Amino acid sequence: MAAKPLDGKSAIVTGASSGIGSETVRALARDGANVALAARREDRLEEIADEVEHDHGVETLAVPTDVTDEGVVGELLTETVEAFGELDVLVNNAGLARGGDVAKLSTEEYRAMMDVNVDGTFLATRAALPLLEESEGNLVCIGSFAGQYPRPSNPVYAATKWWVRGFALSVAAAVGEEGVAVSVINPSEVRTEFGDDESFNERFAEGEVTEPVEIAEAVAFAARQENSTVSELDLYRRDKFSGF
Ligand SMILES: NC(=O)c1ccc[n+]([C@@H]2O[C@H](COP(=O)([O-])OP(=O)(O)OC[C@H]3O[C@@H](n4cnc5c(N)ncnc54)[C@H](OP(=O)(O)O)[C@@H]3O)[C@@H](O)[C@H]2O)c1
Repeated sequence: MAAKPLDGKSAIVTGASSGIGSETVRALARDGANVALAARREDRLEEIADEVEHDHGVETLAVPTDVTDEGVVGELLTETVEAFGELDVLVNNAGLARGGDVAKLSTEEYRAMMDVNVDGTFLATRAALPLLEESEGNLVCIGSFAGQYPRPSNPVYAATKWWVRGFALSVAAAVGEEGVAVSVINPSEVRTEFGDDESFNERFAEGEVTEPVEIAEAVAFAARQENSTVSELDLYRRDKFSGF
């Protein structure tokens, strides 16, 4: 059988239970990586893990994980290294949007976005960096169009994604000399369960906006790099700028 680009490598994907995360698990497994799937919904993780083991002959770990819990994130890293021997790729994908207008945003909605999008990204990155330095691995963070341009409909969500990009690009500058690549993938609308009142896969018809598999392919491309760093990749629906 032909060698696959990520044969023998090990990856963690946060938010692996749906949308961009589950498609990323499929893409990394297809490329040969053993994958630890992390999110809160364990039944979903088990299902996707079984599927990719069957389809791609890789090893998987389904690790129920709340990325806002420092101890649980630490255990995720420990279990992954115990199972796979090392960590080559971390994909910080877990994220959510709640509410909208700042004047009407509840403190719970504010905290939910800050806790998952900001703290979750920090906690997983901090725990993974020493391992990624050992393996000269790849860190991939899911940013957003909302982290590049003002987002009047949800300024706090936008700010969390500006934070993710600022953090990732600054960490990239800090750890490049250790051989670690840090990439940011910026989607615009993607047909997933993302959304507060109405999910994007309900709001948009097939073909109208980006599909999660397209973002997963961008993540896998970044994760396959061995020498260079994919700094940022922007994948937008084709009519994103119409009417601007
Ligand atoms: N869809 C879009 O239009 C779009 C555009 C730009 C950027 N993004 C970003 O893309 C990423 C993935 O979102 P998606 O579109 O694939 O939406 P999704 O289908 O709703 O997936 C979100 C994932 O995050 C996980 N998650 C939420 N809270 C978590 C927590 N506390 N701990 C661990 N995992 C948690 C969810 O799993 P559990 O509920 O099982 O924990 C789920 O697997 C997010 O960072 C989002 O901000 C999405």
